[in-house]
Amino acid sequence: MTPDPTWWRDAAIYQVYIRSFADSDGSGVGDLPGIRSRLPYLRDLGIDAVWITPFYPSPMADGGYDVADYRDIEPQFGTLADADALIADAHELGLRVIIDIVPNHSSDQHRWFQAALAAGPGSPERDRYIFRPGRGRDGELPPTDWESTFGGSAWARVPDGEWYLHLFAPEQPDFNWENPEVVEEFEDILRFWLDRGVDGFRIDVANSLKKDQSFPDVGAEDEAILVAHEGPDHPFWDRDEVHEVYRGWRSVSDAYGVDRTFVAEAWVDSPERLARYTRADELHTAFNFSFVRAPWEADVLRATIDECIAAAAAVGAPTTWVLSNHDVTRHATRYARLDSTGGGVSDEARVGPDTPIDPALGLQRARAATLLMLALPGSAYIYQGEELGLPEVVDLPEDVLADPIWERSGHTVRGRDGARVPIPWSTDGPSLGFGAGDPWLPQPKAWSALSVEAQDGVDGSTLELYRSALRRRHGDAALGDGSLRWLDGPADALFFERADEGSRLVCAVNIGPDAVPLPAYDEVLLASGPLDEDGALPSDTAVWLRPA
Ligand code: NOJ
Repeated sequence: MTPDPTWWRDAAIYQVYIRSFADSDGSGVGDLPGIRSRLPYLRDLGIDAVWITPFYPSPMADGGYDVADYRDIEPQFGTLADADALIADAHELGLRVIIDIVPNHSSDQHRWFQAALAAGPGSPERDRYIFRPGRGRDGELPPTDWESTFGGSAWARVPDGEWYLHLFAPEQPDFNWENPEVVEEFEDILRFWLDRGVDGFRIDVANSLKKDQSFPDVGAEDEAILVAHEGPDHPFWDRDEVHEVYRGWRSVSDAYGVDRTFVAEAWVDSPERLARYTRADELHTAFNFSFVRAPWEADVLRATIDECIAAAAAVGAPTTWVLSNHDVTRHATRYARLDSTGGGVSDEARVGPDTPIDPALGLQRARAATLLMLALPGSAYIYQGEELGLPEVVDLPEDVLADPIWERSGHTVRGRDGARVPIPWSTDGPSLGFGAGDPWLPQPKAWSALSVEAQDGVDGSTLELYRSALRRRHGDAALGDGSLRWLDGPADALFFERADEGSRLVCAVNIGPDAVPLPAYDEVLLASGPLDEDGALPSDTAVWLRPA
């Protein structure tokens, strides 16, 4: 790859959820050779980089976010040689590769955790994780009231009576980031993958590594949930000390050259707190989840965009934009809700089998939202299948649900599997071209018509909309990094201009119920749906214009 110190500032990055992207061996589960075979598709889509969700050896208690060995590949996904070949092929095609790193917790099958169990209380092995005695007369009560993000106590007891912390599933014990051995180990793991040529890392739950060493109770009403927490005073979410870790990581990546990059996954409450992760000596970028959480309402979207750009700019970082990922309800379904305007992404707000939705409305809004996202300054993340307009699968049979949230919630919260169904490549075949076997989650029959094969070359298809938008984003200096200027327009619409190197582009998005007149323009470059006969911009439609 040609070194480029700023490629990440305006990259379009495609998220591959490895289990569900492409299955090369008929196992029903996606794998590295599968991804490799589809790289030309990704190049043609017009993205700059792929982010691959964890591919490490894992018992899959949390879909691979329970890592048993950070320096190897899960056998069902392939081998280290497959990873090397994938990185080489991607680079050959001009695509960068970002991998997931999971530093908050390992799998309980990791050799360090097994050694900790064997070594017993007070041992150096236990000190790599967070073991504590319990409360109560016989230590039978957990050390604190902290709750796991997946439900239930965040502490599990081992046979000798001690408890260990797991902010996620019990099979995901939290590391002790006070221990220098943990710090050194992760810096070494980064080097292991940088040496193999990866271009960057997506950092899983980047905001939870440091815990308040006095281990205070949180208080029942402030318990941990996936999407609402912040603050230097919280015992484990977003503590100020976590930034030391990333200053160390930045020196590691900088030693490999200027174009290796990090993106933090940090669900924090404000753009200002998020921006702290992207200060000049820390991480390059962080996912901007304020945008994911924003409902389909013009004033909220406008304010969110402004706040996020301003907070990132204050530390010299670009912002990022995300509409969908493997943890939230796909945006085509979020925006389909008839009982809200679709901003909720927490477990409680997920779209379920009984939520009233209008799928056609959802897709129309999703396409408009994508043109909005791809016109904003900064980098943008595309979750596999959103380029096909895939909806969330809200009615998966209960007996196939694999998300630990389903079990941990006592079968009250279905979890995230509906966003993780293997994607359809062709109109028929045992798993619509995903692979030769039965996919690990069943695909709806209707996905045949949403497959790549069904949409390829079809004017107006969602796939062709994404291709055109990404192609233009590449070729047009006005798009990508930079700033935006809001233009006057109707209250329910967002009109803004992007300009750079003599190129100007206007994005107009109508979020209100009635058609609105377009701002003055010379040419319609791209539209998320048909314009009205009189040239007005219909409801829930976005357009890119060459301004007059
Ligand atoms: C965030 C990941 O995206 C999610 O899938 C996972 O369950 C948690 N972190 C825990 O690793």
